[in-house]
Amino acid sequence: MDVRAALKEGMAQLRAAQVPSHTLATELLLMHALGRDRAWMYSHPEESIDPTAAERFVALIARRAAGEPVQYLTGKQEFWGLEFEVTPDVLIPRPETEHIMEVALARLGERGIKIHMDTGAPRESLRVADVGTGSGCLAVALAWELPHAEVFATDISAPALEVARRNAARHDVADRIHFLQCDLLTAIENANPASAGARHAVAASTQDRPQFDLMVSNPPYIARNDAAELQREVRDHEPHAALFGGPTGVEMYQRLIDQARDLLRGRGILVLELGHDSADHVRGIFDAEPGWTNVAITMDLAGIPRVLAAERAR
Ligand SMILES: C[S@@+](CC[C@H](N)C(=O)[O-])C[C@H]1O[C@@H](n2cnc3c(N)ncnc32)[C@H](O)[C@@H]1O
Repeated sequence: MDVRAALKEGMAQLRAAQVPSHTLATELLLMHALGRDRAWMYSHPEESIDPTAAERFVALIARRAAGEPVQYLTGKQEFWGLEFEVTPDVLIPRPETEHIMEVALARLGERGIKIHMDTGAPRESLRVADVGTGSGCLAVALAWELPHAEVFATDISAPALEVARRNAARHDVADRIHFLQCDLLTAIENANPASAGARHAVAASTQDRPQFDLMVSNPPYIARNDAAELQREVRDHEPHAALFGGPTGVEMYQRLIDQARDLLRGRGILVLELGHDSADHVRGIFDAEPGWTNVAITMDLAGIPRVLAAERAR
């Protein structure tokens, strides 16, 4: 089999299996099986593929046709211009989550806490948290963008944190990210080593609790009641702890917002990703609480209210 024939056959099989973006999927899987880039592939259509690589490609196409996402087959996904390892233990980073980065960096930049406005030098000591870090895409991208930041990244899933740790090492920011396995922010909130569940506590007493400048989170927000309507790639392959927020999907926001309010310093920024129909509910939480100011919602490219940002009142 040569490269051209492999592409043709792969595309035909994925089309027949009604796989979305079957051309791109075939290309990515062949590139992965061959260990080559797209330019090589299209400049060598008559190159014959060795039997081991051909076998690998055939197996990958079969798995994609059966519903496995391309990213779990190739083990990678780009986010914020950085390549991240992904495994079935973590959510595949989505392009809309990059709006969290944009909003967070814009808010930090506006007030000059990303750099010294007079000299342009990076500011010292910015404390950031990423709640439900998954692959670590937000924590790592923020650490990468903010060389003066110390980042705390939490997740309930130990296997997800292992992937996140590897991604931090891959991008050389592991020495500035603390990974904590806990429910939302509890390892930081219950920062008393003697208390139950504080095995991973990061501070010695309530007074020592880190005061955060920025908190971001893309929490699980899909309604479990809507599971049947999800694409099979998502429902059958991505971790359910990363997808479902509860029966209606919005269940996690109130607790997350309450914990964040206690840990942000005055004017500290909270940036949350929203489910496609959760904006009113989440906005309502901020409207009902006196501790917040400067609440704003940003639309994604599809016009869906996707990111809510707010600041802790002084
Ligand atoms: C939607 S995924 C987001 C992953 C990553 N931040 C991203 O944007 O791609 C949500 C993450 O939250 C984690 N999670 C779910 N419930 C949690 C909880 N109660 N406390 C901490 N993390 C939780 C999941 O394991 C998952 O990694």
